[in-house]
Amino acid sequence: MPRAEVGRTAAGIVADALSSSPAAVLGVATGSSPLALYADLVARRADGLDTTGVTLVALDEYLGLSADDPRSYAAYVRSSIAEPLGVPADRVHVPTGSNDDDALAFERTIASLGGVDLQIVGIGRNGHIGFNEPGSERTSRTRIVELAESTRRDNAGPFGGDVDAVPARAITQGLATILSARRIVLLASGEAKADALRAALMGPVTADVPASFLQLHPDVTVVADHEALGTPA
Ligand code: F6R
Repeated sequence: MPRAEVGRTAAGIVADALSSSPAAVLGVATGSSPLALYADLVARRADGLDTTGVTLVALDEYLGLSADDPRSYAAYVRSSIAEPLGVPADRVHVPTGSNDDDALAFERTIASLGGVDLQIVGIGRNGHIGFNEPGSERTSRTRIVELAESTRRDNAGPFGGDVDAVPARAITQGLATILSARRIVLLASGEAKADALRAALMGPVTADVPASFLQLHPDVTVVADHEALGTPA
C-alpha cells in the first residue's frame, strides 16, 4: 500500500477494536511511524468514535528527560495521543524511572490493568521494537537499557540533530512484556525499514533482530508500505 494508507489502515484496525471494546488497553508506540495513525484516530473521534474510555500504555521513555520536556515520550503521548483523544491523565501510563524497582513497578501497572489488548509497535532500522536493541532476549521484561548508537542517530532530529544530546539510556518494556499483548499491530514505512522488516518477518527468530520474536506471537498484523515491504508500487 502507499505510505499514506499505512496510518489510515492501522487506525481502522484500532477503531474497530475500540468500537467493540471502548475501555480497551491500547499499547502505544511513539516515533514517526504511528503519527498518521493517531491523527486518523483523532479524525474518527470527531466523526463519533468514542476514544475517551481507552487506557494508554507506552512502550518506552528516555532516561534523563522530564515529562515536561517536549522531546520526552511522555510529552509525545500526552500531546499527540491522550489529549486529542480525550483520554484523562490518570489513564495514561508511560514508563519512568531509572532503576529495577521502577521497571518492576511498570510491569505491575500493566498487570493491574489486565494486560494490553492491542499493542502498536514500530520497528527500528536495526530491528528493535520498543527500545529492545539487538541482543535483547525473548524473556526480557521492562528494564533500563543502553541505546544503540544507530538508534540515537536515527532519533537525533528532535535534539537538533546532535547525537550526543540524545539520551544514551532508556526504560523500555521488554520483549516478553510486548509479546504478552493480546494483539499486536506492526507499522513500517519507507525503504530505510525494508531490511529490518524482511529480517523480522522472514528471517530466523533471533535476539540479533528483536522484532523477529513477533513471529512467535499468534496475532500480529503488519501494516507496511511498498517501500518497507520491498514490493512494487
Ligand atoms: C518508540 C519505539 C521505537 C520506534 C522505532 C521506530 O516508542 O518504541 O521502537 O517504534 O524506533 O521509530 P520511527 O517510527 O520514528 O521510525
